[in-house]
Amino acid sequence: MLKTIFIAGGAGYVGSKLVELALKKKYKVICYDNLVYGKSSIKKFIKNKNFFFIKGDVRDKNNLKISFSKHKIDYVVNLASIVGDKQCQTIPKIAYDINYYGNKNLTEISKINKIKKFVFASTCSNYGIVNPNEFANENSKLFPVSLYAESKVDAENYLLDQKIKSLEIIILRFATAYGVSNRTRFDLTINSFTYEAIKYKKLHIFAKETWRPFIHVDDMCLMILKTLKIKNKNKVVLNAGFTKNNFSKQTIVEKIKKNIKNCKIEYVDAIVDRRDYRVNCDKISKYLRVKQSKTIEYGIKEILHKIKKKIIKENEIKKNLLNQNCKRLQLFYSKK
Ligand SMILES: NC(=O)c1ccc[n+]([C@@H]2O[C@H](COP(=O)([O-])OP(=O)(O)OC[C@H]3O[C@@H](n4cnc5c(N)ncnc54)[C@H](O)[C@@H]3O)[C@@H](O)[C@H]2O)c1
Repeated sequence: MLKTIFIAGGAGYVGSKLVELALKKKYKVICYDNLVYGKSSIKKFIKNKNFFFIKGDVRDKNNLKISFSKHKIDYVVNLASIVGDKQCQTIPKIAYDINYYGNKNLTEISKINKIKKFVFASTCSNYGIVNPNEFANENSKLFPVSLYAESKVDAENYLLDQKIKSLEIIILRFATAYGVSNRTRFDLTINSFTYEAIKYKKLHIFAKETWRPFIHVDDMCLMILKTLKIKNKNKVVLNAGFTKNNFSKQTIVEKIKKNIKNCKIEYVDAIVDRRDYRVNCDKISKYLRVKQSKTIEYGIKEILHKIKKKIIKENEIKKNLLNQNCKRLQLFYSKK
């Protein structure tokens, strides 16, 4: 019998790619999502007999209860979230409710239904600001500098406080993603810089010396699927990225410039985002035996190709830029 994964937030940037890969690997997939950004990202799965979609909100305990009663679920992956600092600031209370209480609801329902594994998508943003000569590891002090990171740290602590032995809890602190998915986000550093470089031949870069770890969206999904395959400890926290994939903004821009000629760069001396961190991800490489499959250069070329060939269309990109994403969030949740 096929193993079943319940993916909350399965219509999102990471989720819609995870659904695709999980179906390819012959899992049965329950995608639970309230479709903040619409359903086009999951349209192509609708005819797959192993794909089931449930429209629902992770804050809705009753709907979760009904959904879990309809399927025999083995694994739960929680990707449902308001993602990003500005996005959370747009609807602060709702964002906290979703990121913290939504995760709590999913954990409780997983315990009741004797789920084997619970994977929580956390973030390296939890490290906030790290001494420039150091790399944060899983034991480093967390220093959230945004509501987004605060909600994720609180959700992590809630999970780490759970006493239940039968449920394996895996917390993946993901690096910042790049690359194409079925809902490609253009509010992420590498994707948005690449788009702006193509479109305007100009980039305004703030705080060029700030560092981040990066990961291709496909590698995020491969890591999630790998955690389902191996026997985990009762609770495990892993930085989910690759140590060699930490870069400053300036280095990212140089990589983009190599692929997009005649792009002017203007560096601006202002701090709009306080985060600055490098992250050591050696633990996950050993733990899951994963290697990076797609570099940043690959991600840049992939975005470039899809935009040039109009496989990703301008209107699709515009909808997924930072300001537009925030407007969509505001509109969506004001109707509720
Ligand atoms: N993309 C990144 O760079 C990145 C980095 C670190 C961690 N993460 C984490 O990975 C997860 C997925 O991120 P993403 O980039 O795919 O974001 P996304 O915004 O594309 O996806 C989130 C999905 O959750 C759904 N959702 C939002 N509120 C919901 C609710 N109340 N009930 C049910 N569904 C709801 C949305 O409709 C969307 O489909 C998040 O938990 C995020 O914090 C992402």
